[in-house]
Amino acid sequence: MAKNEQQDESREFNFTAQDFAKIRKLIYQHAGISLSEAKSDMVYSRIGRRLRSLGYHSFKEYLDYLESENDADEWEAFTNALTTNLTSFFREEHHFPILAEHLVTLKKPIRIWCSAASTGEEPYTIAMTACEAFGTMSPPVEIIATDIDTNVLATASRGVYPYERVSKLSDARRKHFFQKGSGAHEGSVRVRNELKSLITFHQLNLLEESWPLKESFDVIFCRNVMIYFDKPTQSKILSRFVPLMKPHALLFAGHSENFLYVSDAFHLRGKTVYDLSDGKNVKRAGSLSKESVL
Ligand SMILES: C[S@@+](CC[C@H](N)C(=O)[O-])C[C@H]1O[C@@H](n2cnc3c(N)ncnc32)[C@H](O)[C@@H]1O
Repeated sequence: MAKNEQQDESREFNFTAQDFAKIRKLIYQHAGISLSEAKSDMVYSRIGRRLRSLGYHSFKEYLDYLESENDADEWEAFTNALTTNLTSFFREEHHFPILAEHLVTLKKPIRIWCSAASTGEEPYTIAMTACEAFGTMSPPVEIIATDIDTNVLATASRGVYPYERVSKLSDARRKHFFQKGSGAHEGSVRVRNELKSLITFHQLNLLEESWPLKESFDVIFCRNVMIYFDKPTQSKILSRFVPLMKPHALLFAGHSENFLYVSDAFHLRGKTVYDLSDGKNVKRAGSLSKESVL
């Protein structure tokens, strides 16, 4: 047996190097995610769950099915299985005073796009920041929160979290923005409806040729997702952000993401916060699609 066909006998499913290579290729083509060689065990474990629930005995069988049938639900499950969704409320906290200061200078209504929203902590943090900046539970902001992963979006739009997720927030923030569960819901918190009503959740693959966005934005959050993409993919996505940004708009990146290496359209305004190098000369709304809904 060739080296790349070797099989770990202790494993429940047959998983070869070719299977792993195919999965890496498919998720790259579909979602832009570049999985490193080191992710083989993670892939086995996550996609193994799909095999178990569908009754397949080998990765080859599963992958043959995925490639030959146009099963949108299974493609969605495959993608959901391979995303990494780590997030938290007020993650990279230094961004939010900058956001608050920016918001109060803008013409209303203010449009914000949170482009890798995961389970919702990030868009709810943006909403809390807007409420605090304007001193009201109905600030003049519209937040579009998108992600490729439909499971995390379901959690985000439910807005119910284990108490530990909010345990580090101040008492004032917890009281103001969350309701504590009781009885069967003991140990969890629910985001208040006023906060929820500021956000629209929608699936959006950053790799898709057309994004369903109807107007440009004052703020884009694109944090901790570009790290999963290679440089050409990052560059393509960034160039599509440019026409979606109003001249004064801000783009927030994750702590390890440096967009200056990828695009010269952006100017570093603060720690991982960018504005447009030449805001006034940008052609507006070039990335807006005909079927725009958001
Ligand atoms: C590590 S989380 C970051 C969440 C949040 N932005 C933060 O910084 O806390 C990365 C998110 O990017 C999403 N993602 C991965 N590939 C994507 C793609 N092609 N289009 C849109 N979202 C994607 C994942 O589903 C995941 O929820």
